[in-house]
Amino acid sequence: MRTPFVAGNWKMNTTVGEAEELVVNMRDRLDAIEGVDRVLCPPFISLAPLHRILQGSSIRLCAQNMHFETKGAYTGEISPLMLGELCEFVILGHSERRMYFGETDEVVNRKVKAALAGTLTPILCIGEKLEENEAGRTGEVLKRQLTNALEGIEATDESRDSGRGGAAAEDLVVAYEPIWAIGTGKAATGEQAAATIGSVRGVLAGLWGEGTAQRVRILYGGSVTGANIEEFVSHPDIDGALVGGASLKAEDFLAIVGQTAKIR
Ligand code: PGA
Repeated sequence: MRTPFVAGNWKMNTTVGEAEELVVNMRDRLDAIEGVDRVLCPPFISLAPLHRILQGSSIRLCAQNMHFETKGAYTGEISPLMLGELCEFVILGHSERRMYFGETDEVVNRKVKAALAGTLTPILCIGEKLEENEAGRTGEVLKRQLTNALEGIEATDESRDSGRGGAAAEDLVVAYEPIWAIGTGKAATGEQAAATIGSVRGVLAGLWGEGTAQRVRILYGGSVTGANIEEFVSHPDIDGALVGGASLKAEDFLAIVGQTAKIR
C-alpha cells in the first residue's frame, strides 16, 4: 500500500553541466520504470536547470537542505518559498548537516515545520553513530531524533485537503541512515535495517497513531548499491532507499530503481 521510494542524494557533487548531463542520461530510462517514486537531490544551483529539463518527466526533485525562514537577512541561505517553485521534497537533518554544520534536533524541528507549512515534503534523516550502535543505544537515539524533529506536529497538520497547498505531515518520508554505514561501503544488513525500521515505525505510531504510521514511508540509507538493494527492499517494512554515492552513476541508480520496481 506504500509506493516504494528511491532518492539519489548527490551531496556536494556535480557542476550544473555535469548534473544536466547525468539527468539527460537517465531520464528516459527512469521514466520507463513504473511503480516506484524516483527522486533526485542535486545541489541547489542545479535545481532550476533540472526543473526545466524534467518538465513532463516522472523524476521528482528534492533539495538537500533549506533555512526555516521564508525570507530575510540570512546571507547564503535558501528558503522553503524559493524551493517551492523548483522541487517537491527537501532532505532535512542529514547526518552530515548535524555533524559538520551543527544542526541540532531543535533546528531540524523548525525546518520540518517550515517545509510542511510551505509546499515541501521532508525526507527526514535519522541515524545513530557507530559508538551508539555498539553501546546498544540505537533505539533510544532514533526515538529522540524522531520525537524531537516532529515535536509540535500533528499527523493531520497542513493536509493538502486544507486547500492551502501545503504538504501533509503523513506524506513525510523518514530515512534511517546509520552513520557508520554512510559512504563507508559497509551497509547494514537487510535484517538489521528492517528490525530498526520496524521500531522507528513503532515510535511514529506512538506519536501519530498506528494508521498514520502505516502510511509513512521509511527508507534505508547507507552504502546502498545495485548489488545490495534487493536485500533491503525485499523486506516489506523497508520502503526504499536514500542513495548517496551510487546515485552519481546513471547505470547504478537505474539498477537500484529498476530492482526496487521488480521486487515490490
Ligand atoms: P551513501 O550515502 O549511499 O554514499 O552511503 C547515503 C546518504 O548519505 O544519504
